[in-house]
Amino acid sequence: MPQDFPSPMDLASADMLRVLAQATATVETEYTDVALSVDGTLPAAIDGLLFRNGPGRFERGGRRYRHPFDGDGHITKLDIRDGQARYSNRFVRTREYLEEARAGRMLHRAFGTNLPGGLFGNFFQMRFKNAANTSVRWHGGRLLALWEGGPPHRLDPDTLATLGPEDFGGRLENPFGGLSRRLAPLLPFSAHPHLDHGTGDLYNFGLVSGSPNRLMLYRIHRDGRMDPLREHGLKRFSFVHDFAVTRKWLCFLLPQADFDVPKAVFGLKTAVGSLKIATEQPMQALLLPREPGAGRPVVLTGPSGFVFHVAQAFDEDDGRLVLDVIRYGLYPDFDDFTDLFRAPPDGAMPRLERLVLDPDKHSCERLSPGADVDTHAFELPISAPTPLGAPRRILYGVGAPPERRAPYLTSIHRLDTETGQLTTRDFGLDLTGEPMLVPGDGDDEGWLLSLVLRADQGRTDLVVLRAADLEIVATAALPHAVPIGFHGCWVPRRELAGAG
Ligand SMILES: [Fe+2]
Repeated sequence: MPQDFPSPMDLASADMLRVLAQATATVETEYTDVALSVDGTLPAAIDGLLFRNGPGRFERGGRRYRHPFDGDGHITKLDIRDGQARYSNRFVRTREYLEEARAGRMLHRAFGTNLPGGLFGNFFQMRFKNAANTSVRWHGGRLLALWEGGPPHRLDPDTLATLGPEDFGGRLENPFGGLSRRLAPLLPFSAHPHLDHGTGDLYNFGLVSGSPNRLMLYRIHRDGRMDPLREHGLKRFSFVHDFAVTRKWLCFLLPQADFDVPKAVFGLKTAVGSLKIATEQPMQALLLPREPGAGRPVVLTGPSGFVFHVAQAFDEDDGRLVLDVIRYGLYPDFDDFTDLFRAPPDGAMPRLERLVLDPDKHSCERLSPGADVDTHAFELPISAPTPLGAPRRILYGVGAPPERRAPYLTSIHRLDTETGQLTTRDFGLDLTGEPMLVPGDGDDEGWLLSLVLRADQGRTDLVVLRAADLEIVATAALPHAVPIGFHGCWVPRRELAGAG
């Protein structure tokens, strides 16, 4: 159990503190294909695999990670068919994970946690642990654990065994030589690739910091082949977690950011602690043509704040570009684990907003998608699989009631972007995970699957909700508590068949 939390008085509530301890406890057991008891009825149309990634080991050798993004990647898998669910979980066994497991202590610096020993322990240690903990995606016959600071790791979808770093036939080999290559032999691959369900192409990026700073742009075909690398130089350092893809554009919202290189290099601060994002300044909206050579980049002045996630993006017929984004007025400075649950100042809660970018007029307009989403926290947005860039009327995500003052997310949301109507189901103190959509046939919206950490019960439940009205149709108790997770995917069984 965690031992170094601040007093409950510092936090939004003592109850939240208690649940936080449960939600950040290291997973001790790896289960294999355990049949779960189902309460309610799992629709027979739900036939496939749910994969989700998140930190699962929060300490090593008695030393605890200080940042929620540092825990070692832990994959959960639910195999659902014929109204039954089976559960497995495995850690992603990266090189660093295996080395630290053998040594029984922390050997690698993490983005938000320095090694013991201050200056002497961290001096010039700029090769960070690949935490492999942010998402897990299925594409081109590969199951990949993703982390934005490094390459993906390929997993066996049956056993969840780690097969090693994935370099897409050598395409991800760092071409920049010298120190860059020594620090990172493979290029970074963000945890937010976007799939065009029309063509089967997957788009992604990697942010390479240095001189110059570069955005690397990737396209991977449905057979797993990656196109030759594209690169776009950035005039200054920035930080970006997700991006938008439309029929015409790749769009990045780039905040003004500074990285205190001396403090990071000398180990006086963690890498995350060395990052400062000027949320009072406008972000830059960088539009790059989706097809190489199909036009010139366009730079617009965007809103202030910071955007972790893009809910959807599409082109209007008149050339404007619409983005539904989760915007923070202030950067959530998770320099310490417990900041996740500390009551933040006004402006720090995540809100869904619509941005309308006009590349011809060089303008950016901020719109509200509805009064309800002006007052409800909204994060981890998802939508139905469609050809990329096609507008989606319905968005789903996690959130919180309006009175919640901390980013402690306990609701599942459904937003109709045409009417602005927000439907929400709140679970009290229970923490809801990113919903995953299993589409139904025809006009049937299908079902949402979420892993819900039950406060004080020491376990996580799979909760299945009807997407159209958020009625719960089934729950299945997992054999343990799965810590707070990030992203995952739903893979219909027919997509797995024949994959090699
Ligand atoms: Fe994310």
